[in-house]
Amino acid sequence: MTRRLALEWPDPAPFRDRDGAPIRLLAVSDMLEPTLIEARNREAVAPVDLIVGCGDLDCDDLSFIADGFNAPLIYVEGNHDTEERWKKCSAFCPEAIHSTAVLHRTGLSIAGLTWPGVRGKYGNRSERAAWNQALRLATRRLGKADPMIVLSHVPPRGTGDVPTDAYHRGFEGYHWLMNRLEPTLWLHGHTPLAAADEWKHQVGPTTVINVTGAVVIDLLPPGPETLARRKRRMKQLKEERQTDGVAATAEAGER
Ligand SMILES: [Fe+2]
Repeated sequence: MTRRLALEWPDPAPFRDRDGAPIRLLAVSDMLEPTLIEARNREAVAPVDLIVGCGDLDCDDLSFIADGFNAPLIYVEGNHDTEERWKKCSAFCPEAIHSTAVLHRTGLSIAGLTWPGVRGKYGNRSERAAWNQALRLATRRLGKADPMIVLSHVPPRGTGDVPTDAYHRGFEGYHWLMNRLEPTLWLHGHTPLAAADEWKHQVGPTTVINVTGAVVIDLLPPGPETLARRKRRMKQLKEERQTDGVAATAEAGER
């Protein structure tokens, strides 16, 4: 079953030329959602503005989805996305997002975090590499306040992960990054749906979605409340930055 979700995007800019129409994302990961194999089910979901992949979906399946919806595709790599596996289909599947790169698609800023560690059968997971990714992306986003989407294969620690299973535990660095960047959406895979109670969580201003399978996400133009909330948050961040600046200047003066 393709799950559905609608949420207001805090920035009106991407909707300016859309006559109020939502931006539709189709998020996919880990397994091909069987209902999407049927053309009539795809018709019920179309049109899609952008397909976003959160890893571990075969390149054959990814390209089938992209062709079936005739929509652009961006994705991150999961632990099963090995070079060997992808060599076979490099001709018909676009390259994965370079980790920590921020792309701009359909007016949205979207960052990708690929599997941090060695991929494949004898792969490993690396907390240190995840921290490196988190710090790199946080640095890239310094001074930027536009709302964003983060795509990762593994979820942040404590949100949408399986804490009791070492292989399916989220990353601490991602948790820190989520609190730091406050993205509007964080999409991940890796966690089997049966292993988690919920497929969506709200952490402050961030909606975290376990994509595993497929989720249709309609981003709606912001209503007055969302806009007011965004304005208040921007003001708060500005004040915090000014306070930090004053504190740093005072500290430097005392030295
Ligand atoms: Fe995975």
